[in-house]
Amino acid sequence: MSLKISRRHMLRTSTLALAGLCAASRRVLAGGMNMEMDMQPSGNSPALAPFVDALRIPPVLNPVMRGKTAHYTMTMRAGLSKVHRDLPATVVWGFDGIYPGPTIWATRGHPVAIRHVSRLPDMHQDGMAAMAMMYPSVHLHGAHVAPQHDGHPREAISPDAFRDFHYPNQQRAATLLYHDHSHGQTGLHVYYGMAGCYLIKDPNEEALNLPTGEFDIPLMIQDRVFKADGSFHYMLDASTRETGVLGDTILVNGVVQPYLKVARRKYRLRIINASNARAYQLQLSTAEPLIHIATDGGLLPKPAPQAVIDLAPFERVDVVVDFGAYTLGTQVVLKNGGSGAGSLGSIMRFDVDIPAVDDSTVPDCLSAWEDLPVDAQTPTREFVLNRKSSPAGTVWTINDELYEMSNPPLAQVKHGALERWRFLNPTNHPHPVHIHLIQFQVLNINGVPQDPARHGWKDVLVAPPGGEITVAARFKGYTGRYLFHCHNLEHEDLGMMADYEIVP
Ligand code: C2O
Ligand code: CU
Ligand code: CU
Repeated sequence: MSLKISRRHMLRTSTLALAGLCAASRRVLAGGMNMEMDMQPSGNSPALAPFVDALRIPPVLNPVMRGKTAHYTMTMRAGLSKVHRDLPATVVWGFDGIYPGPTIWATRGHPVAIRHVSRLPDMHQDGMAAMAMMYPSVHLHGAHVAPQHDGHPREAISPDAFRDFHYPNQQRAATLLYHDHSHGQTGLHVYYGMAGCYLIKDPNEEALNLPTGEFDIPLMIQDRVFKADGSFHYMLDASTRETGVLGDTILVNGVVQPYLKVARRKYRLRIINASNARAYQLQLSTAEPLIHIATDGGLLPKPAPQAVIDLAPFERVDVVVDFGAYTLGTQVVLKNGGSGAGSLGSIMRFDVDIPAVDDSTVPDCLSAWEDLPVDAQTPTREFVLNRKSSPAGTVWTINDELYEMSNPPLAQVKHGALERWRFLNPTNHPHPVHIHLIQFQVLNINGVPQDPARHGWKDVLVAPPGGEITVAARFKGYTGRYLFHCHNLEHEDLGMMADYEIVP
């Protein structure tokens, strides 16, 4: 069963989204959404000139304070977003209807409560049994939270309902993000816009005198394919079931290859790869190194200048770039190395435009580090990341299991235990492995022992094709069930996910 609604009609109607959606227009938007799921031949995005739109910085939400807790409400709904000068506005599914969602700035030790309300179209009532849309669930990626606040797909939010999430923020300052985690449709929902930044700061970090305020900027990088009418083109077919959905156009904070006018001084750039499947090789056109200062789990022990930084889906790096090294008028492009000069070769451009006095610094020592005390007694678990064929096409497995919400947990870990987790990847695709709740240390990649301090605290690490990784973590703070999975969103949706359980 399919809805036949012309794109023109849909776009006209979807402008109602801006004025607040009535039930009828919500159904039309839902229809448009459904069309995206057809197995259409792979389209190419229209050619879009780079660097014609200014970078947008997602608005920071203001909390309502009740006691020590900062309360927020966000509403998931359809909206319209202008992503490029020459493209009609795009129908998005966003937190508060915007793409990306609003930013939350939290402080270590100060709890945050977020009420997530769903006003997404109810596909279940639209007779789409064959392609029933899953209800959204909201996960705060990188957060140390109780299982009932972790956004497990079991805890999806029905239309017009809400769920309250409590985040104690008893963890290191770091660049996190929240995103949809719906059962089997995380890829589709995130593609449509359901992700936003959640940034934790702490007073110790502020004392370091790194760039802050307007010089501390989140950059959420995503790739998309657009149709000529501006709509997203999400396609699951034999090839994207393999590779995950790869776009041909790069956006930063929801704008196609934007530019940003910067002052002649240092900036902290919090780079978040929120792409379904694409990894980037970040580098500057000037060949100056990026000063790597933080990773998924916060500050590195020491700053590390790097010519190229690889960033897999849902990894984060914070880098400092000193635009004070350039004369006014210089254009510095953040490139995706190895991808040529085309629409995938450039991420964004910084135009050094504003004179400035810079008193920020990058100290030689950023944070204290201790290797986890891993030894011969430390238990090691093994997980094999593999594939299977099914009548529908390729599916992805962990230890031969396809994810089902009713599966028993694949591992039971004693609360407080320190463990090694080894992931073997016999396939020809990289699998960015993500473990909920904890931050881990990197012990070994492809048989080569690693210096964990150099990698910092991580919650995503790529298991390379034909290779393996071993990480170590202390599983503590809460008991209950959490997820771990490949963070290629299509691999995740197609089965490469499992529960683990922390038991008392
Ligand atoms: Cu970024 Cu299971 O999530
Ligand atoms: Cu996560
Ligand atoms: Cu994968």
